[in-house]
Amino acid sequence: MLSVNKQDDTFLYRQVIDLISTNIDSGTLRPGDRLPSLRRMSQSARVSIPTVRQAYVELERQRRIESRPQSGFYVRPRAANDIVSAAPSSRGKPVCFNCRSLMERVYDGINNPRLVPLGIANPCMARPAAKTLHRAMKRVMARREESSLGYSSTLGEISLRRQIAYHYLDTVGAKIEPEHIAITNGGQEALLLSLRAVASPGDIIAVETPTYHGLLELIDSLGMLAVEVETCPEEGVTLSELRRTLEKHDVKACMFSTTLGNPLGVTMPEVTRRELVEILEEYDTVLIEDDVYGDLRFDGVRPVPAQFLKHSKRIITCGSFSKTAAPGYRIGWIVTEHFIDKIARLKRAFSCSSGLLQQLTLADFLASGDYARYLKALRPILKQNAERMSALVAEHFPAATRTSRPVGASVLWLELPAGVDSIQLFDDAITAGISIAPGQIFSPANRYRNCLRLSYGHPWTEQTENAIRWLGRQVAELC
Ligand SMILES: Cc1ncc(COP(=O)(O)O)c(C=O)c1O
Repeated sequence: MLSVNKQDDTFLYRQVIDLISTNIDSGTLRPGDRLPSLRRMSQSARVSIPTVRQAYVELERQRRIESRPQSGFYVRPRAANDIVSAAPSSRGKPVCFNCRSLMERVYDGINNPRLVPLGIANPCMARPAAKTLHRAMKRVMARREESSLGYSSTLGEISLRRQIAYHYLDTVGAKIEPEHIAITNGGQEALLLSLRAVASPGDIIAVETPTYHGLLELIDSLGMLAVEVETCPEEGVTLSELRRTLEKHDVKACMFSTTLGNPLGVTMPEVTRRELVEILEEYDTVLIEDDVYGDLRFDGVRPVPAQFLKHSKRIITCGSFSKTAAPGYRIGWIVTEHFIDKIARLKRAFSCSSGLLQQLTLADFLASGDYARYLKALRPILKQNAERMSALVAEHFPAATRTSRPVGASVLWLELPAGVDSIQLFDDAITAGISIAPGQIFSPANRYRNCLRLSYGHPWTEQTENAIRWLGRQVAELC
């Protein structure tokens, strides 16, 4: 059943965990099956007994296996937590997002450092890169002195744009000219400038359902309307539904995540991305491709953004270092050839340029190889947090709860038993010292009242575990 690869630089105990988990997921090991003894496993996997013990202890912590006194380790029966199903569009009507007071309360919770932070999608805070970034910034200041304090050019520091272009070449083989990249104040400004470049007040914008609440606030603040398109947890937007929406409405732009969408964590398969590009051509519309989580799949494989699959002029791709390096730096980017002049004009008008010191620091971070090394260390931590959170939810939430199955980034989406009010849960949780993201903020049509999003993008502590147990008990009471 088992063999580990000693050339691989993943910790051996993690390799043992992955091998056992894979066997459980594939059904080779079934609930109730006994695992090999520590000695047997150490012989067959050719690792030491302490390594196997470490893997078993972690798998027990993740509630995938259990130890029975005098008997050994067994695969635990999975709790009823099934995967969430596709969310159909809300009769396909364009609507205004109307959740402002709830959003304010959610942000108050997110920004309160005294609360257990389960409400904010902040992957890199699971293992902050503070020391490495600090060293990079010191190098930049020593090299550039006063000039590092000045304005950057409107489209951004060329060294960073080159590094981003190189990163796409290195990870997905896409050749991008640095001249077709604009640096922005985070992913949020990247989405804002892209949307302003292609749509005007009153226009209809197609979004996934559920979708990132910041997108909905943006569409609303620009006086536009959002129309939800059915989204399936395995494939992303359902293309037949998208066609129907495009037939019915004059959609100015689609705003979809192609990799690890927030909150479902869904990655669109390559064949679907290709078909999506064909649909954009057919209906003469534009895609603003939100790719801020592209680097954060647990398996380290970066899917090719739709824009580069077919070199489509109809796609504007948005990225950010907020999820992969430092949210406080507020550095994101846009990749587009076709709209770059318009984006430059808008950038100049809205914010002139982005922080130069942060751009230079990130350019150094990427060029030194520290960024790639950092991501390599971050991904297994996020994966482990996801496994622990899923296991605790399976154990402590009512059996009818359904969850997403994260393959990357930092959030778990939960569908609670019908009738549970996640806004009530949100209020109770704040009082108990926990912040969560209630489901309703992810829909312009106020849906998902019985859903919530939990984040595992923070260092895992006993407090985290207690918070999940508390939420499970509270949901049971609200049922
Ligand atoms: C899907 C998605 N897009 C964009 C953003 C905005 O990123 P930034 O913090 O860089 O503005 C976020 C942040 O949560 C997000 O989840």
